[in-house]
Amino acid sequence: MGLEKEKYLKIRKAQAQGVRTVEELKEIESLLRNACACKNVTIDEVVKAVENGADTVEKVGEATKAGTGCGRCKGIISDIIENKR
Ligand code: FES
Repeated sequence: MGLEKEKYLKIRKAQAQGVRTVEELKEIESLLRNACACKNVTIDEVVKAVENGADTVEKVGEATKAGTGCGRCKGIISDIIENKR
C-alpha cells in the first residue's frame, strides 16, 4: 500500500527529530490509519465497507465518502479492495 508522499515526509521528519510525546505518537498513528484525508475516513472504515460488499472505489465512496474529495487516496482504496479479494 503506498503512503501519500506528504504523510510519508511528515512521518520521516518526525522519526528524524525523535518523537517524544504521546501526542506526537498519536498524530503519527492517525496519519497511518487514515485512508482519506479529505473526508477523514480511516483505513478500518474502508476495510469494513469492502467486507460489506463494496468492491469498487466508487462503491467505497458511496458507503464512506472516502475518495470523493481530491481523489488522491483512490490508489489506497483500490489496494484495500484488491487485498480483500
Ligand atoms: S484524500 Fe481522499 S479524496 Fe482527497
